[in-house]
Amino acid sequence: MSVGVILVAAGQGTRLGADRPKALVPLHGEPIVTHALRGVLACPGLSSVVVVAPPGCVDELDALSAGALAASGASCPVQVVPGGADRAASVARGLRSLPQEAGIVLVHDAARALVPPEVFERVVHAVRSGHMAVVPGLPVTDTVKTVAADDRGELLVTSTLPRASLRAVQTPQGFLRATLERAHADATDAATDDAGMVEQVGGWVHVVDGDPRAMKITTPHDLEVASLWLGPRGVSP
Ligand code: C5P
Repeated sequence: MSVGVILVAAGQGTRLGADRPKALVPLHGEPIVTHALRGVLACPGLSSVVVVAPPGCVDELDALSAGALAASGASCPVQVVPGGADRAASVARGLRSLPQEAGIVLVHDAARALVPPEVFERVVHAVRSGHMAVVPGLPVTDTVKTVAADDRGELLVTSTLPRASLRAVQTPQGFLRATLERAHADATDAATDDAGMVEQVGGWVHVVDGDPRAMKITTPHDLEVASLWLGPRGVSP
């Protein structure tokens, strides 16, 4: 089965505080989405890519995608489609445009611009080995607590979660196409990732090792960290 990747890049990136959508913010002189595309285009078994763009930036993303494709030497089709109101809507639009031959679908956040190739390999390998849904995850080092506002609006801790059973989950997330399509058709509650939708409809989600470099660039601090990782030459380690 060949692999199709949906690269969601349609977020505004408000928390980054930039003057343009996050995918177009420069990191070492290249837009974040160009770094993300470099990783995607090296994915094993790749047959197609759909980039989901901020509405109004489709032409710009088209040109960037063509440049990244030419630089990569890959030969798979790369389409660009406009995104939706939230992440799930953007993924759904990408899924509708993904060629049918892609029996395995990876959903990847463009904001995770520096994912090393091993993470793509681990996710694809686990889906090929028979898992319907696969996420990369990292053990959590902080103690995580749930909180709620008291009657004066101040936060109170309501519980402490058992850390050993927690994982910080990243992308790319991999799915059998039928699993992802059913999750998007049947999940009813809001979810911040696609695996969450699979969980809602009773699917099993397998976890492989994530990587600190698969961090999501959300704040200006994250952008600085990503830039340090790239080093003076501006290439992924
Ligand atoms: O907002 P969040 O941090 O969850 O965004 C994760 C990824 O989803 C980002 O790469 C962002 O571009 C994408 N996204 C999208 N369409 C939206 C919102 C977010 O493609 N409407």
